[in-house]
Amino acid sequence: MKETLFTRAVVREFGNIAEVMRLEQSAQAELSAGQVRVKMTFATINPSDIITISGAYRSRIALPFVPGFEGVGRISESDDASLPVGQRVLPVGSMGAWQQYKDSDAQWCFTLPDFVTDRQAATSYVNPMTALLMLTEELHFTPGMRIIINAANSAIGKMLIRIANHLGLKPVAIVRKAENLGLFSDYVTEQVLNSSAADYPQALNALAHSGGVAAILDCIGGEESLTLAHALMPGGQFIHYGLLSGQPIPATFWRSRPDIRFSNFHLRLWVHGHEKTLVQRKINEVMALIRDGVIATEIVAEYALDEIDQAVRDVQSGELKGKILLRL
Ligand SMILES: NC(=O)c1ccc[n+]([C@@H]2O[C@H](COP(=O)([O-])OP(=O)(O)OC[C@H]3O[C@@H](n4cnc5c(N)ncnc54)[C@H](OP(=O)(O)O)[C@@H]3O)[C@@H](O)[C@H]2O)c1
Repeated sequence: MKETLFTRAVVREFGNIAEVMRLEQSAQAELSAGQVRVKMTFATINPSDIITISGAYRSRIALPFVPGFEGVGRISESDDASLPVGQRVLPVGSMGAWQQYKDSDAQWCFTLPDFVTDRQAATSYVNPMTALLMLTEELHFTPGMRIIINAANSAIGKMLIRIANHLGLKPVAIVRKAENLGLFSDYVTEQVLNSSAADYPQALNALAHSGGVAAILDCIGGEESLTLAHALMPGGQFIHYGLLSGQPIPATFWRSRPDIRFSNFHLRLWVHGHEKTLVQRKINEVMALIRDGVIATEIVAEYALDEIDQAVRDVQSGELKGKILLRL
């Protein structure tokens, strides 16, 4: 029988993505029982992909692997009657989006409504789903509560603000560069702060002394988490979901504010810990938010898989104002 070859990105050792990721040609194996084969159309590159390739989670990631937590495609072979050939799906719950064909357990393929384009679908999981879950499942929501969102100019920061607005909240948004202060004219915010400005500590003090904030959604970590915690009202909620600073939250954080309700939020843990029907329902809610124009991923460039080295250079430049798509 003639072998069918396909292209995939492979990581055989942990390290800097630009040095350790290679494109390889692979032969398609026989499809395993209970699995489906997805012809991927688009995938994206997120900070979590780069962090995983760096080896940050080496204790639970086996080498070699195909990276990519997020992408969309159509079933090309199926061992599951509920997922026929041609069905469009989000194959999540494992890496492997950066290849032309991804084999996935059928139970980890979620279906999508026709109104969502492939390009939006390819970016509809990691950030939109996390933003929705944090605001609707993790946050102890009360109408009108005051919340802080940092790295507000990141893809997920903007989505958090949009969904918070949809839920009737006016977040305090925080960026670290003056040039990003003006990005929020179309969003409803109580205020936009610059964490690099000389008067930032006073601005947080003013929040603390005007009732404090009920919740903080933090994806920076390090000293920034400690500084922010001063603005929390007694017993307030601190949801930590990322480490853009590369620094862990210092121990003094817990010593200085033993009263706060702290949680780490991980999309992976949430979806692995819940029934698939509930995960599908939440994906459907994300799709409705996209349909209604509440959220949209800003896509700034698109590259063929063969051009992944250039895509990685763009991502690592730190100059991007949106997401990059890989065309598979
Ligand atoms: N826990 C989960 O399940 C989960 C799920 C999704 C995302 N996340 C996390 O959410 C974070 C954002 O992801 P994303 O895809 O939205 O990122 P993104 O769109 O790539 O944007 C990140 C932006 O944050 C700003 N930034 C970078 N380092 C920063 C720092 N040290 N302090 C403040 N701002 C910084 C940068 O903008 P400027 O350079 O212009 O300031 C950068 O463009 C990541 O940490 C990611 O791992 C976690």
